[in-house]
Amino acid sequence: MPGIVVVGAQWGDEGKGKATDQLGDRVDFTVRYSGGNNAGHTLVVGGERYALHLLPSGILSPNSVPVIGNGVVIDLDVLFAEIEGLAARGVDAARKLLVSSNAHLITPYHQTIDKVSERFLGKRKIGTTGRGVGPAYSDKVNRLGIRVQDLFDEEMLRAKVEGALWQKNHLLVKVYNQRAIDPDQITERLLSYVDRLRPMVADTSRVLNDALDAGDVVLFEGAQAHHLDVDHGTYPYVTSSNPIAAGACTGSGVGPTRIDRVVGIAKAYTTRVGEGPFPTELLDADGDKIRADGAEFGTTTGRKRRCGWYDALVVEAAASANAFTDIFLTKLDILSGWEKIPVCVAYDVDGERHDRLPMTQHDFARATPIYELQDGWTEDISGARSFGDLPKNCQAYVHRLEELSGARISGIGVGPGREQVVMLHDLL
Ligand code: GDP
Ligand code: IMO
Ligand code: MG
Repeated sequence: MPGIVVVGAQWGDEGKGKATDQLGDRVDFTVRYSGGNNAGHTLVVGGERYALHLLPSGILSPNSVPVIGNGVVIDLDVLFAEIEGLAARGVDAARKLLVSSNAHLITPYHQTIDKVSERFLGKRKIGTTGRGVGPAYSDKVNRLGIRVQDLFDEEMLRAKVEGALWQKNHLLVKVYNQRAIDPDQITERLLSYVDRLRPMVADTSRVLNDALDAGDVVLFEGAQAHHLDVDHGTYPYVTSSNPIAAGACTGSGVGPTRIDRVVGIAKAYTTRVGEGPFPTELLDADGDKIRADGAEFGTTTGRKRRCGWYDALVVEAAASANAFTDIFLTKLDILSGWEKIPVCVAYDVDGERHDRLPMTQHDFARATPIYELQDGWTEDISGARSFGDLPKNCQAYVHRLEELSGARISGIGVGPGREQVVMLHDLL
């Protein structure tokens, strides 16, 4: 039975939460495998809106076990605030959540360093979410990270926090002109969570492999997206982890042969938050209209999302590198009412045509889109439930994106609600 990965095909906020939630009750385990609370996944269930940052979207499906894998960086303040927020709304997340003993922790010093280093980068800043995600991954790779399992050995934890802070305090005081951080305070704060955390901690790699052996369905819920991947994205304007489908293996401890389906989530247009190149970005009234119609404001930071037309090269590159078996196209309803809808089919880079993403960031940053104009439609499609319900021009738009994007379109979002979908092929 399947291991299925859901991956963002653009620069995040494609609707991964909603796509994950679609599979809902048919999924036995839902696993976050990368990123931290830089993510913001919105679900609308029965008219109620839920914004999740750290917990996988499967938390809202009564029969699915939510898992936070080893590849995630966890801010315990955020985790427990999220659990309490859900409990207040009648969702008992604490009862069934599993947390990897190998996952690393985000602590307040990571947030401080995230913010001051962005300030010092000035014009070259990344536009991070400021949640400490990058510095926590830096510590992991530098072998200075604090892991979930470290909380169970107080003496070792104290020594590790001191070790992690020694160099950072020199940097904070002497370079960044900040106050030093007290290792004891950090340690006490971490220890305050031990009792609540202990029952959730597990060897989640073992749990997931046993589940797959038993024929359970495991859904790996990507955060961020292909083009924010530290290896494959628009470096340095990326996040500090591997959101790509292959990251589901390293970030949860299952082998590549476990993955049967890879579903790329693509918006019917393009958005991006933070800095970095974005060839189809619209800096005019058209961009403002898409932002207003699509309510394109960050789930995590509330920042305005940059908006632009669909870029088929961006999605095709993701389809290729992640081996998408399916695409779930979201927010098609937002495009109702345009007479013509431009779709980027190639780039012009210094007079040369590129039909694929250029090899270098140098070229990508200077790419100007070559558009093909699709005929628009005026009808409200939010009530469509089958492909035949969509206006002819809307169907043609979907067919053209499918031709250009390198994988079949299996599902279409026509509104934020759980029921607002058109399915063309089953995802399981
Ligand atoms: P994620 O980070 O990929 O999970 O996406 P976000 O939740 O950050 O942003 C997607 C936004 O679009 C959320 O507010 C969703 O409720 C909403 N959404 C998802 N799919 C659709 C859709 O098909 N139509 C409309 N109108 N909204 C959608
Ligand atoms: P979801 O899962 C959109 C962006 C930030 C910034 C860059 C690095 O909701 O799609 P970081 O804080 O990760 O060091 O910031 O990555 N970014 C996202 N953009 N959606 C996200 O998550 C993002 N997570 C990070 O805006 O440009
Ligand atoms: Mg989001």
